[in-house]
Amino acid sequence: MHLTMIGTGYVGLVSGACFSEFGHHVICVDKNPKIVERLQKGEIPIYEPGLKSLVARNVAAGRLIFTTDLAEGVKDADAVFIAVGTPSRRGDGHADLSYVYAAAEEVASACPDMCVIVNKSTVPVGTGLEVQKIARKAAPEKRISVASNPEFLREGSAIEDFMHPDRVVCGVADEHAERVLRGIYRPLSLRDVKIQFAERETAEVIKYAANAFLAVKISYINEMADLCEKVGANVQDVAKGIGLDNRIGPKFLHPGPGYGGSCFPKDTLALLRTSEEAGAPLRIVKATVEVNNTRKKAMAQRVVDALGGDARGRRVAVLGLAFKPNTDDMRESPSLDILPALIEAGAHVVAHDPAAMEAAAPLLPDVEMAGSAYDALKDADVAVLLTEWNEYRALDLARAKDLMAAPIFVDLRNVYPPQDMRDAGFTYTSIGRA
Ligand code: UDX
Repeated sequence: MHLTMIGTGYVGLVSGACFSEFGHHVICVDKNPKIVERLQKGEIPIYEPGLKSLVARNVAAGRLIFTTDLAEGVKDADAVFIAVGTPSRRGDGHADLSYVYAAAEEVASACPDMCVIVNKSTVPVGTGLEVQKIARKAAPEKRISVASNPEFLREGSAIEDFMHPDRVVCGVADEHAERVLRGIYRPLSLRDVKIQFAERETAEVIKYAANAFLAVKISYINEMADLCEKVGANVQDVAKGIGLDNRIGPKFLHPGPGYGGSCFPKDTLALLRTSEEAGAPLRIVKATVEVNNTRKKAMAQRVVDALGGDARGRRVAVLGLAFKPNTDDMRESPSLDILPALIEAGAHVVAHDPAAMEAAAPLLPDVEMAGSAYDALKDADVAVLLTEWNEYRALDLARAKDLMAAPIFVDLRNVYPPQDMRDAGFTYTSIGRA
């Protein structure tokens, strides 16, 4: 099949590359000539394990093409996926859909007479209908279907998630769109992956409902961790104990400094706005957002407490800046709140991250970036583990302790067994393990 991807951000690039791996002929369109030029040269603008070789293989096979020319890119397409950004609109938390609508209009004017426009960007319920209206107005003579096909991939394991999803969700309003989407995902349905077809509005809600539910799980276990600390329980074992119940499940019950990233913070806010406007406010999602917001300040205070209540003039070594491991993405990373709060408290912060330092430097101008974890730890009064990179799991604890001015360790991801840290001579604080 001939597919076109509008937007080569995270979702667009990964989906485009994976569709070409399925054997489809894919053209990826991006307005930004610099990004397209880099992609044509085989350079990948985002950090995602496995993506470079996947792109290279399919470009070499002639199945994957990058261009800035939208009209040329969509003229033979069976389906055009819109995967442009939907940032939070300043002020009201709504998703900004101007890029989606502009793309829809351009696509409708240039696509074949029969074509399916598929929303892959995370868009609020009702956007599919709006895109349909825009497409009909731009090209009343064409038979354009509009579908919704939300993406559930996670950064850092995006290719694995795309190739081996728990399910694929397709929202359609007519049979042609269903037929085309079934064809596109046939390589997955042949492997027994469940392809769920639903009303377009339903698919749009599924994406937000899934992300918000996962955010609820995280805020829930984070609050439970606070309780465990007060009553002398161990949140890791609590998560295990409840997670073994199939109705709850073990995933997304890992306590930490709060969720970040490009999806959960933005999508929970957008869903809240939608629910309030629809007159069905989602109070549980509201509480989830509040818990996550207050958590970051509380984490900074935890570091100050570990320093005996006064961070002034103290050297704080931070391990990990990205919102999670295996990405250089700094969007909504908890580090963007926690580090400035520590600086505000008078600390000198030295940080290291295996991939995100370049992206982090302009966002955290008062933080000193170190060449290695050990460079960061040198002469530090406290070490703070913020992102659970494997590199930090393998930290040489004896060497770390020797380098530091004081053996104090605050582990905001519960990476180390407390006994190991005590044996290594550290005063060790973690999350929800009294
Ligand atoms: C998420 C969804 O998982 C994905 O389905 C959706 O398409 C996009 O948003 P992503 O943002 O890449 O993916 O990261 P994810 O691995 O889900 O983690 C999000 C945040 O939650 C991170 O900050 C992570 O540290 C945090 N988290 C996750 C926890 O604190 N505890 C957990 O148990 C799981």
